[in-house]
Amino acid sequence: MCTIRYMSEKKLHLHPHHHLIDRSQRERMSGHHSMVVWLTGLSGSGKSTIASLVEQMLFAKRRRTYLLDGDNIRSGLNSDLDFSEKGRNENIRRIAEVSKLFTDAGIIVLTAFVSPFIEDRKKAREIIGEDDFLEIYIEASLTKCEERDVKGLYKKARAGIISDFTGIQSPYEAPENPDLRLNTERETALICAERLVHLIEEKISS
Ligand code: ADX
Repeated sequence: MCTIRYMSEKKLHLHPHHHLIDRSQRERMSGHHSMVVWLTGLSGSGKSTIASLVEQMLFAKRRRTYLLDGDNIRSGLNSDLDFSEKGRNENIRRIAEVSKLFTDAGIIVLTAFVSPFIEDRKKAREIIGEDDFLEIYIEASLTKCEERDVKGLYKKARAGIISDFTGIQSPYEAPENPDLRLNTERETALICAERLVHLIEEKISS
């Protein structure tokens, strides 16, 4: 169960400090703009594979990047969160806040989270800021993801060993108007990654 309490800055008597080195100076040092590239899709749709390929391609172009991935973050920073609706809300909120810090550091952040709820992704966009956020829908049907079942989790969910599994007992709300849609049933991961790199390159050099 998730029991998280929020308090306003005022209540906690906080006075956020403005540092002398700012984002634009860090971006200048990076040689490009920073931003968040938010990948969403069912488990097994190919988010991590594409994010990883994109990061390799950007790295080869000497772009400063960092990849935040569901299974990794949930093993550390967010290991206290479950897969209830509340747990997922808080998971995405923290990822959005962490991503925002990375953009402030002048880095291109790639995030690979199921992030199944439209409202949570909308909030992430608000936290990060419209201009710095790209929503990428990694599209593959539930049938296909279940057929791939790379981690064997769909099988466990069907057997009732895992509860609240996205697509089985918990909903996935697909983006209505993503910045880019990559269908991993129709295109290879490499082609998808190349298309995404193209979009990122346009955005960071504009
Ligand atoms: S999210 O819904 O809160 O965005 P997140 O991307 O962090 O999910 O984690 C998803 C990963 O956790 C999946 O790729 C899968 O490996 C694992 N997982 C374990 N239990 C579940 C579950 N109930 N629903 C979805 N993914 C799960």
